[in-house]
Amino acid sequence: MNDDRLRDLLEKMTLEEKVGQMVQISGEFLEKGSVLTGPMLEKGFTNEAICLAGSVIGIQNAATMRRIQKNYMERHPHEIPALFMMDVINGYRTVFPIPLAQGCAFEPDLSEKCSSAAAREAASSGIHVTFAPMADLVRDARWGRVMESPGEDPYLNSLYCRAMVRGFQGEDIKYSGKIAACVKHFAAYGAPVAGRDYNTVELSENTLREFYIPAYDSGIKAGAEMVMAAFNTVNRIPSTGNKWLLKDLLRKELGFDGVLISDWAAIEELIAHGYCNGRKEAAEKAFGAGIDIDMMSGIYSEHLSDLVRSETINEKEIDKAVYRILRLKNRLGLFEHPYKDAGEEEEKKYFLCQKHRKLALEAAEKSCVLLKNEGEFPLKIGRKTAFIGPYVNTNKLTGSWSFTGDKKEIVSIKEILSEYPEYTENITCMQGSPMIEFDMELKGFDEEEKEKISGDEIEKMLDDAEEVAKEAQSVVMFLGEHFLQSGEAASRAYITIPSVQKRLFDRVYNVNKNISVVLFSGRPLDIMDISRKANAILLAWLPGTEGARAIMNILTGTAAPEGKLSMSFPWSVGQIPIFYNSDSTGRPYDNHIQQDRFRSRYLDIPNEPLYPFGYGLTYTSFSISEVVLDRTRISRGEKICASVLVKNTGRRTGIETIQMYIRDLVASVVRPVKELKAFKKITILPGEEKTVCFDIGEQELSFYKSDGRYGCEEGKFRVYIGTDSRTDNFKEFILE
Ligand code: BGC
Repeated sequence: MNDDRLRDLLEKMTLEEKVGQMVQISGEFLEKGSVLTGPMLEKGFTNEAICLAGSVIGIQNAATMRRIQKNYMERHPHEIPALFMMDVINGYRTVFPIPLAQGCAFEPDLSEKCSSAAAREAASSGIHVTFAPMADLVRDARWGRVMESPGEDPYLNSLYCRAMVRGFQGEDIKYSGKIAACVKHFAAYGAPVAGRDYNTVELSENTLREFYIPAYDSGIKAGAEMVMAAFNTVNRIPSTGNKWLLKDLLRKELGFDGVLISDWAAIEELIAHGYCNGRKEAAEKAFGAGIDIDMMSGIYSEHLSDLVRSETINEKEIDKAVYRILRLKNRLGLFEHPYKDAGEEEEKKYFLCQKHRKLALEAAEKSCVLLKNEGEFPLKIGRKTAFIGPYVNTNKLTGSWSFTGDKKEIVSIKEILSEYPEYTENITCMQGSPMIEFDMELKGFDEEEKEKISGDEIEKMLDDAEEVAKEAQSVVMFLGEHFLQSGEAASRAYITIPSVQKRLFDRVYNVNKNISVVLFSGRPLDIMDISRKANAILLAWLPGTEGARAIMNILTGTAAPEGKLSMSFPWSVGQIPIFYNSDSTGRPYDNHIQQDRFRSRYLDIPNEPLYPFGYGLTYTSFSISEVVLDRTRISRGEKICASVLVKNTGRRTGIETIQMYIRDLVASVVRPVKELKAFKKITILPGEEKTVCFDIGEQELSFYKSDGRYGCEEGKFRVYIGTDSRTDNFKEFILE
């Protein structure tokens, strides 16, 4: 439909019909069996409002979508099709590693492909918009939703956000297999105080702009059709009603012109925040801040029309919002093809197809991070090995958002062993313990987990595991958080493996010190004790559909680990929030030199995390030369080239991620001690040397200065090049 016709349509619509477009209801109102991802409040939805609601959340199959769309359009006065939206986070039926794991691959292009595959499958089920990517920067591992973010670095997150938007949307969302992306949660949802979900966010404007905004901005620049406002406050104003945030910053400064949606029931939550005195005021404030679609509070359908009639809201403003929504429907081609790609044949063709499975395997292999390895991995053929732990025996290898992923299609480590016949006869598998304590209950979006294993049964499991461990030459333990211990509303104060698994680890360690660990998790964990005792640790995160195969490929050496941490693993919870790009203090502490006692440090633990950002080992080793600069002074507009010579000093071909960090030594505002500005992944043969160069110009040296403007300042800079954020390999240059 051309734009004139779209505007004609808008003109013909009544006020109620227009407001209807701004209302989102859950599939539940239309069909049983949809997924609920938030609380169901008492809704103010009348039958008429349901008939006019412009979008639906949570429908997840083609047949249902087609039926709903048909009925809906038949009833709708202008036959306007509904938009179908859902959370397609890290895959649909084929599940890829959780976004935090994908961040560790340091390969945004790979995530673009994963998002594109997810879009293909979701589009087949009739989904038009996904509530992804989540661009929230994360620094606090207590927060359960760190699993949904690529990590703690603004540069890396920006690359990922752009890649994912491109993957979902492709060249044009009208094309077959493409869906619209929604960048979320604007803004700074990833910074709740004390890591407690939905909690207050308290940031300076400078920190907000410099660390948190870039990833959203990059998704918007990549053409994301939608943005979701966050639940949290920013500067004491809830984002959903924050005019400065949504109008001045998002719309005017960042130039976002697409549809702005609230989070689930967030307009209603303006009342609980104590920011609005009732539903009517909440409607007025959310609309006044620029929210186009009300997700699941019913408040817009209840109050917007009256607010227009009482002249509190100007209908012209409503028209602008509705135009954006209709334009999105039009860009998706829904006026001509209201079912777009939805079809059972399509579902059969794309769900878990070979191409997607292959991609899921590649992504899972590349996102595993080898944290420690004292010669344990790859496993040795012919060595009597015990595989012990609850993750040996489970197919629950996906994150909490993967409710559309079919667990029946996922095999466990134990099941996949038969594909590795040279190892099978020497490996004994044993569950050893339940995943979580027998009295712990966990709730997901569509499932509830309570393991019904009694205390006595657990003791027996532990005894059996100990026996098997005694007999083995080495033990690999498959341990970790339950997949429902991370995700939304899954903040934790003790970020350890479940205590029953800790008991299992201790029992096994007591009888066999040749112990290594494959760790599963949706967040960085406190693994200090495991890290001291285990000879090797492979971090598998929640690796998705092909997780077991990826892990076995790595353990057997068919593949080598190459992931790098995109979020620091803390020494202990007491360090949190911890991130590599922190500011220098006036009393910096250097544990390599003797210093007086009045320093910025802990008395009982180091300042450094256990495993830092950018860190990860592989099956070979590398040496890196000193940094070489092609000049030591540059002027504005010029570039300097910094290079290193990287040599593979081991015996197998390896992949290394060479990282370049900048430090601005003196500036009008205090600068971070290091900031990632570029990285390159290279493959090197044994004995081979490769030169890796990075160009540095104004872009890499810019920041928000004391006058609030973005740019760089003259003076001295350090360029660090290394294989993780701890690198001390630097040279200095001057910007004149
Ligand atoms: C989450 C969003 C999600 C929405 C819809 C909310 O609870 O915060 O990230 O997109 O539910 O499922």
